[in-house]
Amino acid sequence: MKKSYIWSLPTRVFHWLFVLFILLAFLSAQEDRWLDYHAIVGYAILILLVFRIIWGVIGPKYSLFKDFPIGKSNVKEFLNNIFESKQKYIGHNPLASYVMISMFIVAILIIITGILAFGIQEGKGILSFLNTSLFKKMELFKEIHEVLTSLFIALIIAHLAGILSDRLLHKKHETLNSIISGYKVTQEDKSIKLNIYQKIFSILMFLFFVGFLVFNFYKPDNILITSKYEQIDYNVQNELFVSECASCHTLYPSQSFT
Ligand code: HEC
Repeated sequence: MKKSYIWSLPTRVFHWLFVLFILLAFLSAQEDRWLDYHAIVGYAILILLVFRIIWGVIGPKYSLFKDFPIGKSNVKEFLNNIFESKQKYIGHNPLASYVMISMFIVAILIIITGILAFGIQEGKGILSFLNTSLFKKMELFKEIHEVLTSLFIALIIAHLAGILSDRLLHKKHETLNSIISGYKVTQEDKSIKLNIYQKIFSILMFLFFVGFLVFNFYKPDNILITSKYEQIDYNVQNELFVSECASCHTLYPSQSFT
């Protein structure tokens, strides 16, 4: 048995940033007043996904989408031999490939419906112009966003269940360690090596990602989250109304009634 370098550093950094930012997305969704942060986290995940999709086309062998064995015969073959310890799939196995691809697609749909809901419901972000025309549909996009989120949680559970069963059935390949170290145990040496373009591309994408976060930190009122309306501080405008009446009556800006 040999140790082969399967997951390159950019693939692993993507994986763990994706984990971290999905976690942040769930946490920042817990309170309404964190909604702007939630939106920034969503855009950050979109950058990660753009990287991963391009990486799936120009990246090293096992990260390529065409290396994902999603054919029907692969699935059948994999399930028939699932208890065998001999390893045919060095990158993703067929079931894992389905989970990965579903995760990417669902995550992108979550971000799109999130941006829609943010624009329509809050009048914020790049789709804030839809706030006037689609305001009555605001619940719809929020609900799609939330249903997709539940689907994503199911995919996370499927991913973890897959790792667990792989750990039980094919322990010696060290799949779990490989997403930290990059190495799997294989029959022969099947290592990958990044070429200079792949290295430059991943470094540029990483810098862009960090730059995006820094930019949002220093300029939180940018086009991605800013409101199409002028913020009204009702406390300043009519303090008495806020303290006496706002517990029951909701305040809307006067533009909403035109
Ligand atoms: C405890 C909750 C509550 C508070 C506090 C409250 N309201 Fe109301 N208000 C209501 C309810 C309930 C109605 C009836 C709504 C309906 O008829 O559909 C109402 C109706 C009204 C109406 C009549 C609306 C109409 O359609 O004719 C006005 C005006 C109004 N409130 C003003 C105020 C003002 C001003 C304050 C603050 C001084 C205030 N309310 C505080 C609950 C409240």
